[in-house]
Amino acid sequence: MKQISTAILGATGYTGSELIRLLDAHPHFAIAHLGAHSQAGKLAGEVLPGLAKNIANMPLLASDTPLADGIELVLTALPHGAAAASVKKALDAGCRVVDLSADFRHQSAATYAEAYGQAHPFPELLNDAIFGLSEYARADIADAQLIANPGCYPTCTLLPLLPLLKAGVIDTSRIIVDAKSGTSGAGRSAKTDLLYCEINEGVRAYGLPRHRHAWEMEEWGEAFSGNPISVQFVPHILPMTRGMLATLHVSGENPDNWHQLLAEAYADEPFVQVLAEGSLPSSKAVNGSNRCDIGLCVTGKNSAVVVGCLDNLLKGAAGQAVQNANIMFGFNETLALSAHAVWP
Ligand SMILES: NC(=O)c1ccc[n+]([C@@H]2O[C@H](COP(=O)([O-])OP(=O)(O)OC[C@H]3O[C@@H](n4cnc5c(N)ncnc54)[C@H](OP(=O)(O)O)[C@@H]3O)[C@@H](O)[C@H]2O)c1
Repeated sequence: MKQISTAILGATGYTGSELIRLLDAHPHFAIAHLGAHSQAGKLAGEVLPGLAKNIANMPLLASDTPLADGIELVLTALPHGAAAASVKKALDAGCRVVDLSADFRHQSAATYAEAYGQAHPFPELLNDAIFGLSEYARADIADAQLIANPGCYPTCTLLPLLPLLKAGVIDTSRIIVDAKSGTSGAGRSAKTDLLYCEINEGVRAYGLPRHRHAWEMEEWGEAFSGNPISVQFVPHILPMTRGMLATLHVSGENPDNWHQLLAEAYADEPFVQVLAEGSLPSSKAVNGSNRCDIGLCVTGKNSAVVVGCLDNLLKGAAGQAVQNANIMFGFNETLALSAHAVWP
């Protein structure tokens, strides 16, 4: 059976540990290198107590450890800013890369600087990166050396929005995106405002006046649909471990036809499920799966609410990354990703 030797950089983080779980069950990707930063030098199982014995005994390698000969695929699950240099090194070593960070998600260095407040260290690579929203970029992903894996909020927003944008049926001048995420969306590093006492039994908005992902939604909403869009995006953090839900308030003519547009767009997609009209998605029904569930409810003569829902660590990150790696290497796109949600 064909084996692709694979490195995971940022293996000790929340998305990195999901990559381990998915790839260890994959018939063709063999984990050969686990990279870490502050935890380098320990065994994987000392830092990630959920791992089974075969991986628990693998060493965590420092960021500057060279990739061994024969590694073909590198998955980078590092903070933005830190990811770019590791991606460059992996590309220079001839590897194909799926980067889960935001470092290659924008087509221009100016947009990256505006959204992330720092200059891009390798602007010459931006044109080569393919934005890996799997359902919309399959042909480009198949040939790519570098995939910029989309953000969790943009995936949760663009999948419900794009069929309506492409059909030109909604007002694109102000789309309200009211979104919620579990705390794993903020990563594993210690932060005071994520302490149990500060997050439990509460909810709060954050990231205003303009969260970084607003640029990503607008850039790729326009790129995939041909229509410029303007989003008013407000994320909220909830006291739950994982799960993400985006409620889109949209207006336009004949909203009674919109459910059919969504259902037709995703009829053959294994990981996008359009619920019956009027049914609304729930994070409990997708967590643990690589699915994005979409619901639509017509709320007025010219308005509707469209809701996207996914597991931020799976379809919002590691799941979509493995889906993209499957496409890159010509494997069945669903390999290692067909798990149902963990219920309840
Ligand atoms: N969490 C989500 O839901 C989500 C969704 C979509 C995309 N993403 C993106 O995916 C990336 C990883 O997110 P995450 O939530 O998994 O983060 P995380 O839990 O904070 O993990 C970060 C990882 O990067 C390593 N690291 C930290 N600083 C580093 C540095 N300066 N140089 C090299 N390695 C460093 C850490 O290693 P040590 O533990 O050894 O220090 C750890 O393995 C981020 O860019 C994030 O924006 C996250």
